[in-house]
Amino acid sequence: MSESKAEQATLILGDSQYQLPIVEGSEHERAIDIRTLRDRTGYITLDPGYGNSGSCESAITFIDGEQGILRYRGIPIEQFAGSPTFTDVAWLLIFGELPTPAEYEEFSADLTRFANLDEGMKHQFEGFPRTAPPMAILSAMINALSCFHPELHELEDLTQFRHAAARLISKIRTIAAYAFRKSRGLPYIYPDPSLKYVPNFMHMMFSQPYKQYICPQLVREALNLILILHADHEQNCSTSTVRMVGSSGANLFASCAAGVCALWGPLHGGANVEVLTMLEQIHAGNMTPEEYVKLAKDKDSKVRLMGFGHRVYKNFDPRARMLASVAERLLPQLSGDDPLLEIARRLEEIALSDPYFIERKLYPNVDFYSGIILRAIGIPTNMFTVIFAIGRLPGWIAHWWEHDQTQRNKIARPRQIYVGETLRDYVPKERRG
Ligand code: ACO
Repeated sequence: MSESKAEQATLILGDSQYQLPIVEGSEHERAIDIRTLRDRTGYITLDPGYGNSGSCESAITFIDGEQGILRYRGIPIEQFAGSPTFTDVAWLLIFGELPTPAEYEEFSADLTRFANLDEGMKHQFEGFPRTAPPMAILSAMINALSCFHPELHELEDLTQFRHAAARLISKIRTIAAYAFRKSRGLPYIYPDPSLKYVPNFMHMMFSQPYKQYICPQLVREALNLILILHADHEQNCSTSTVRMVGSSGANLFASCAAGVCALWGPLHGGANVEVLTMLEQIHAGNMTPEEYVKLAKDKDSKVRLMGFGHRVYKNFDPRARMLASVAERLLPQLSGDDPLLEIARRLEEIALSDPYFIERKLYPNVDFYSGIILRAIGIPTNMFTVIFAIGRLPGWIAHWWEHDQTQRNKIARPRQIYVGETLRDYVPKERRG
């Protein structure tokens, strides 16, 4: 960040004028720095939903929503379509550079080493009913890691942080798979140290004690890419939650557990489930794509075209473009012609030529095609948002650490404009009418 000396914003309030500094990011995004506003003027700014408020300076991910650009640590998202593994990208996001071969091997070995859950933690799963939503289990069990690793509450140095990060990235996969096994009444499958990150997860999800699941290369590649594409997205709802919780000094596990809860909602990570439900409804013949789009435009219906629209992207979400092409390529090989893909294409076509969506700049987002791909590789619908959480975890960790390491950062504590009752007296029970 640099502070532009030449340019300042002038705020006029009544007879007074105030100069406010302009700050500029490395990609020339600009902000008016209002840190001293209340002290100097007595005013605050009001921005519900934070559409115009920067909460921090961050060096992790850059998005240009108008142009549909997404970069991790400067690298365009499109360049992750080929060979990188999720492990590679996780390291890049968290530590700022691509790992050297030695760093990669060590991190990868840590991810293998830490995959098991403490047996005591395994028993915690027994307390949940079979119908428990996997996202609820995921959040609870990530928080439970705080109980089993008190030594990682205070992270003294980079080495300790690296171990905590590797533990969390490794164990989230085991927790996720156990949550799924629990929902099906299936025995838990221990991680296999001979398998890499994605195949090991699929093994814990789908192997049986009497039969090993072998992860097809195609499935491995698709899931690897889905995890990479979800790995970070700057100050989205769940990441902001992680930073906010972390700003109070809460440990990494507790902060990321809160991130899972924020991600769960249908307007955020839960949208991938809603997209599939929408496609299935249309497929079941309840509605045509045309009728669904009409309903989504009707403000009285409360229906939205799920997987469309984004707070930041006012152009194509580049992740949606990449996933659309993966769906086109993979689905015929994995599951034959999927009628849901055809419905998705039709919805996209209708919406992109409809003035309602054009005027509001509503385009497909990352969730529009991810559910169709996850379904094709055998992931059940109730696990879609869990997969999103596994993918997003490196981003949460990177942001938690960035906040922790930034000395100037304070506890996150927004203000408000109070609109309730003004001063009045308490009325004892016997005098209330
Ligand atoms: N379908 C129909 N109308 C929509 C949609 C949609 N998917 N999204 C936005 N709109 C309309 C709103 O009704 C509003 O119309 P108005 O100006 O006439 O009142 C206008 O577009 C602006 O919408 P907001 O809700 O103000 O936009 P915001 O930036 O707050 O919300 C959000 C973004 C939550 C993603 C929204 O587009 C949405 O609900 N989309 C569907 C859910 C979804 O796909 N979420 C996943 C997002 S990506 C992610 O989190 C990983």
